[in-house]
Amino acid sequence: MYVTLYASHPMLRKNGFCMTKTLLSPRDRILVALDVPALDEALALVHALRGHVGGFKVGLELCTSVGVPMVVAAISGAGGAIFLDLKFKDIPNTVASAVRVVATTMGASVRMLTLHTDGGSAMLAAAAGAVRNAGLLPPLLLGVTVLTSTDEVTLNEDLRVPGNVETHVVHLARIAQRAGLGGVVASPLEVAAIRAACGDELTIVTPGVRPSWATSDDQRRVMTPTEALRVGSDYLVIGRPITAPPVEIGGPAEAARRILRELETAM
Ligand code: C5P
Repeated sequence: MYVTLYASHPMLRKNGFCMTKTLLSPRDRILVALDVPALDEALALVHALRGHVGGFKVGLELCTSVGVPMVVAAISGAGGAIFLDLKFKDIPNTVASAVRVVATTMGASVRMLTLHTDGGSAMLAAAAGAVRNAGLLPPLLLGVTVLTSTDEVTLNEDLRVPGNVETHVVHLARIAQRAGLGGVVASPLEVAAIRAACGDELTIVTPGVRPSWATSDDQRRVMTPTEALRVGSDYLVIGRPITAPPVEIGGPAEAARRILRELETAM
């Protein structure tokens, strides 16, 4: 009943994030990674971009520099919907307690929150339980599968996980879904396999997205925004192509508008 209401209410939005996947507009689907060390830099980007994108991913750098409650209050106060990328991983009780703090003290502002799926089923289920009891519109919990910096050699030799990256990503996505998480973070190259294994309901958020006019920087396995949506991503995390675009594109707002136009034309 709760899930039905949640998913079927066409006007249900919270702080800018559209809550029903089927109603996501191209704009809703773009999440900008605010990988900057200072709050004034982050706020300048929020002011420039909030009319063109669905929300902002804030992570360890900005939160360590400024403090999580301060970052959340400032970005939310500037009108930005927040994807809090803190990648929690600890024993189940500790993670559930941290998730509960986010959901109860910042739940009105934080729409998505990340955990490492390799913390295991008990940890993921404890976190899912913590948000279930935390109010009407708790953050969507996203399980980080295999980091894009982890290749097959690292997986096999350092982590002693046999097999290829895609097989392990799908396994972790299944664990996350069974534990009650609403979505996962994965490379666009793994989206089709996750969709095949987990169905349409699971939200898939993908970094590693590069428009054809942008440099790939340190991202190795990339897709364009349009390709990523076509293979089944729900949200695209895009950082440097928007926050530091090539000079011929213009500033962040021009870069975001260009990506938006590309998506609107393709969808
Ligand atoms: O600038 P760029 O578009 O590469 O930024 C991508 C963002 O997504 C960064 O904040 C990065 O930390 C994050 N990310 C990633 N790969 C993952 C998980 C998160 O690139 N697997």
